[in-house]
Amino acid sequence: MKIAILGYGTVGSGVGEILTTHRNTLSVPLELVAILERKEQLHRHPLMCDNIESILCDPEIEAVVETMGGIEPAHTYILRALKAGKHVVSANKAVIARYAQEFHNCAKEHGVSFLYEASCGGGIPWLHQLHSVKRIDEIDEIEGIFNGTSNYILDHMTKESQTFQHVLRKAQELGYAEADPSADIDGMDILNKLRISIMLAFDTAVAETIPVFGIRNIQKADLLYPETADYVLKLLAVAKRSGNHYDAVVEPTLCPLSSPQSAVRDHYNLTCLHGTTIGKLCLLGQGAGKFATAHAIVQDLTDIVLGTAYDSPSFAQSLTYDGTILRSAYIIRTTLGKSQLQSILGKHLHHCDTFAAYTYAHTDVLYKAKMHQLMKEIVNADAQAFLMALAQMEE
Ligand code: HSE
Repeated sequence: MKIAILGYGTVGSGVGEILTTHRNTLSVPLELVAILERKEQLHRHPLMCDNIESILCDPEIEAVVETMGGIEPAHTYILRALKAGKHVVSANKAVIARYAQEFHNCAKEHGVSFLYEASCGGGIPWLHQLHSVKRIDEIDEIEGIFNGTSNYILDHMTKESQTFQHVLRKAQELGYAEADPSADIDGMDILNKLRISIMLAFDTAVAETIPVFGIRNIQKADLLYPETADYVLKLLAVAKRSGNHYDAVVEPTLCPLSSPQSAVRDHYNLTCLHGTTIGKLCLLGQGAGKFATAHAIVQDLTDIVLGTAYDSPSFAQSLTYDGTILRSAYIIRTTLGKSQLQSILGKHLHHCDTFAAYTYAHTDVLYKAKMHQLMKEIVNADAQAFLMALAQMEE
């Protein structure tokens, strides 16, 4: 199968290298014939061009790999490639989270595949796993560490007692972070992956606003707080289905030392699901990085050649968001005093500790949505910084 790659950054060039340098170990013939890049990049590779028309109009090109990132022109190019009868494989979670249904409908209409294993969990075959489990089970919960950069930052801040900025720079040098790392740090990258995962796991379109907290304001002091000594702080994404409703959240979470999440190091991801008969299933793998992510793309290309690509999600369920399904206790770091917190958190306030210069407020079990609503009322920016869900406490 002849292939064009749109965008030759970290992941795109990883695909290019697998298709050429590792050609002998591929189980099906995959031939790279064109690369779309900006004019100033054309000197980097003999197959590069800056004209999308020459790729879309070439009848020999059967598949297009989209690794440009961002919404436009990726959205337009994906649709045009599908309409031109080409299979599309994409790693671009932002555009997929927004337009998946349109892409799937278009692919179906034109008898081609639209696949995106690399968009969630890097090299982990997570989307394949969701499809596979769904052949037998109903999936009622998904949960995991879906971002390599933020896991790398939290892990190295904890292990090496380094500052946030120092570790972020290291993650960028290693090629894990997005071009603009705020998507990694503020949880938006995870939100896109969670939306895609919900869509596939629950067979529904995901239109609702999902509460998201990132790790931008996590401080070393938070990691030293004595009450959290038996936990490891991780940035988790969770979605749970109950009947015709679902709840979802992205937030820093304290995971007990005995949990599989607490053992996830560096840029690794851990993606978990719960199905009717399979029970809990977790996959661990590299969630970011050039070759692990490129591997997932080449897997999709291989499935297309072998005719083993999975079907589109049916979007048959129309689930509605219910922010009262997921509940946790929280610890909040704030400079507000106990009485001010009492007036905001009311009966939900469990107790307050003073540690170093901060007050840490413990809440009772709260709905995620309720907590996020309360957080908006805690005006001190510090309070928003250290939101931790002690999800396991209620189990
Ligand atoms: N920046 C992303 C991460 C890359 O760190 O997980 C993989 O999606």
